[in-house]
Amino acid sequence: MSGQKEQHGTGLSSLVARGAVLAALASALLVVVDTPLKSFISSSLDYFSLHVSSSTEYDLSGVCQQVPGLSPRNHDAERFIRDKVESPAYHTEIINKLTRIIQIPSESYDDLGPIGEDDRWDVFYDMEKYIKATYPTLVGNVRLDHANTHGLILTWEGSVPASEAKPILMLAHQDVVPVLPDTVGDWTHPPYEGFYDGEIIWGRGATDDKGYLISLLESVDLLMKSGFRPKRTVILAFGCDEEISGENCGRPIADFLHERYGDDGIYMIMDEGSMGVQKEFDQSFAMVSVAEKGYLDVGINITSSGGHASTPPDHNVIGILSEIIVAIENSPFPGRVTSKNPMFGFLECAAAHAPPASLTSGVRENLGRVARGDVEAQEKVAWLLDDSLRYYFRTSQSVGKINGGVKINAIPELASTMINLRLAVETSVAQVKEHYESLIRPIAQRHGMHLEGFSSSGYDSPEQHRRKISLYSVDDLEPAPVSPVDAEAFRVLSGTIRNTLHPLGKDGSEELIVTPYLMPANTDTKFFWAVSSNIYRFTPINLVHSLNRAHTTDEFIRADEFVREPLFFATLILNADDAVGVDGS
Ligand SMILES: *[C@@H]1O[C@H](CO)[C@@H](O)[C@H](O)[C@H]1NC(C)=O
Repeated sequence: MSGQKEQHGTGLSSLVARGAVLAALASALLVVVDTPLKSFISSSLDYFSLHVSSSTEYDLSGVCQQVPGLSPRNHDAERFIRDKVESPAYHTEIINKLTRIIQIPSESYDDLGPIGEDDRWDVFYDMEKYIKATYPTLVGNVRLDHANTHGLILTWEGSVPASEAKPILMLAHQDVVPVLPDTVGDWTHPPYEGFYDGEIIWGRGATDDKGYLISLLESVDLLMKSGFRPKRTVILAFGCDEEISGENCGRPIADFLHERYGDDGIYMIMDEGSMGVQKEFDQSFAMVSVAEKGYLDVGINITSSGGHASTPPDHNVIGILSEIIVAIENSPFPGRVTSKNPMFGFLECAAAHAPPASLTSGVRENLGRVARGDVEAQEKVAWLLDDSLRYYFRTSQSVGKINGGVKINAIPELASTMINLRLAVETSVAQVKEHYESLIRPIAQRHGMHLEGFSSSGYDSPEQHRRKISLYSVDDLEPAPVSPVDAEAFRVLSGTIRNTLHPLGKDGSEELIVTPYLMPANTDTKFFWAVSSNIYRFTPINLVHSLNRAHTTDEFIRADEFVREPLFFATLILNADDAVGVDGS
C-alpha cells in the first residue's frame, strides 16, 4: 500500500500511512474479535482502501475483451430460424410443446432404487414417448442411443468424421425436483398443469430444465427443417437424475460418449447454468460458468460408553459434539480471490466494463496485486465483496444434521452430525479433510478420546474403540477443472451470445458483456471432465425477468424469453459448424 494521492491535500499521506498501519493491525485483530467490532473494523478498512493504493492501478486495457457478434455463414438457415422465432404461430406451437412436457411429472427421488427395479422410473418412458411423438423429423434423422435405459443420446451425424471435427454436445435433464405434497396448495397454478397465462408458463421444470430441453430439441429440429446439414456432429443428451446423484443416467451417458469419442473428444459441452443474462454492478452480463465448486459431506460420530444419568461424566458425547460444532463454525474457511477462480475474470470484466462507481471501492484498485498473488490483497478483496458474492470465494460449510441421545435418564453413547461443504476452486477434498482433522484433534486430546481420521484403517485397539471421534465422508467431488476462456469454442459461444441475446438496459445503449463465472452448485457435467475440456454452463435467458424459482413453488418461465432460446442454440450449432477446419478442431 502506498499512499500518493497528493491532490487530496497535504496531511493525507500521513493519514494514509496511519491507515495502513491501522489496517494491518485490524486484519491481525480480525481473527480474534466478535462480530460487532469486526464489522466496525471492516468499515474502517473499507474507508482506507478508498484512499490508498491508486498507484498500483491495474491496467485494464486488454482485459475482458469482447468478441463481436458472430453471424453464421449459412444465411438461409439463420434467416429461416429468425423468421420462425419471430412468428406468433411458432410461439403458440413451442409454448404448447413445453406445457405438455411439464404435464409429465418426471420427478426424481433421493431414495430411488435401480432402474428396472424401482417402477417410479417408468415415468421416463413417457418422456421418451413424448419426445418421439413431438419431434418425428428430428428423431427420424438422428441415431438414438440409450444409456442405462432412460439416458437418451441423440446423435446427428456430421459429414466430417468426429476424428477431424469434434462433435458439439448439448446437455439437458428430463427429471425435475419433486413437489412436496403439502406445498401443492401454495402454487398459483398446479405444478403439473403447465398453465400458460399469455405471458408466463407456470410449472415444475419450466426453467429447470424442461425449457432448456425443449429449446435444444427445437434448435436441431428447426435446423433440419431449414435444410442445413452439419459438418460437425451434433449430439443432444438428456439425463434422468440430474437432481439426485446423476449416477443412473448422467454417469452412463458420459461413459458412453467417452467410450465413443475418447479423451477430450468433444468440441464443446453446453449445459444449464444457474446463471444467464443478469445485471450486476449496474451492467448487463451474460454469465458463463466455466467451473463448479467442489462438494463434500462430512460426518462426525462421537462414541463413548453410556451409563446412568445419576453418575455422569463432566462431558458426554453430546457436549463434546457441541464443542466440535462450535469450533467448526468459529473457524470458517478464509475467503480469498485468486486469479485461478473464474470469478476473478468476472471482477476484471466488471472493472473494465461496469460503471466505475458501481464496483465496491478497493476491489478495482487491488486487482493487480491479486493477480500477482499477493495473499493480503486476495483476502482483502474477498472481504470487500458483498454477501451475495462471498461464497464464490471461499469454501462454505453448513451443519445440516445433528443426532444424539435417546433417553433423558441415560448417558448417550453416540452423537453425530453431518456437514455439507462446497469447495472453493483453489482447494481440494484432501485439504479440507486435513483442516477438519487438525481442528478436531486437540478437542479429542482434551477429552482423552481417540480420533479416527477420514482415512483411518479401522484396526485400532478395543480401548480406542470405546471412546472415539470418527470422521468420515459420504459424497465428495473435487472442484471442476476451469474451462478456458481463450479457447476457440469460448469465442464461438461468446460471439453467439452477442449476436442473439440482448442486454437488459431499456435504452439499448448498454452492451451485453460476456463474462466467465463460477457455478456454486453441480450439474451432470461433473461426469464429463474427461469428455471435453471446454465445458460451459449457461442459460440463454434474461434471469432478471425470469426470476429463478427452480426447486421451489411457482417455478415459471417468461414466454418471450423462452421462445428465443432455440435461436441461441441453433446459431451456436451453425457457428460451431463454421469453425470446422479453422484450426483443425
Ligand atoms: C455414524 O453414526 C450413524 C448414526 O447416527 C451411523 O448410521 C453410521 O453408521 C456411523 N458411521 C460411522 C462411520 O461410525
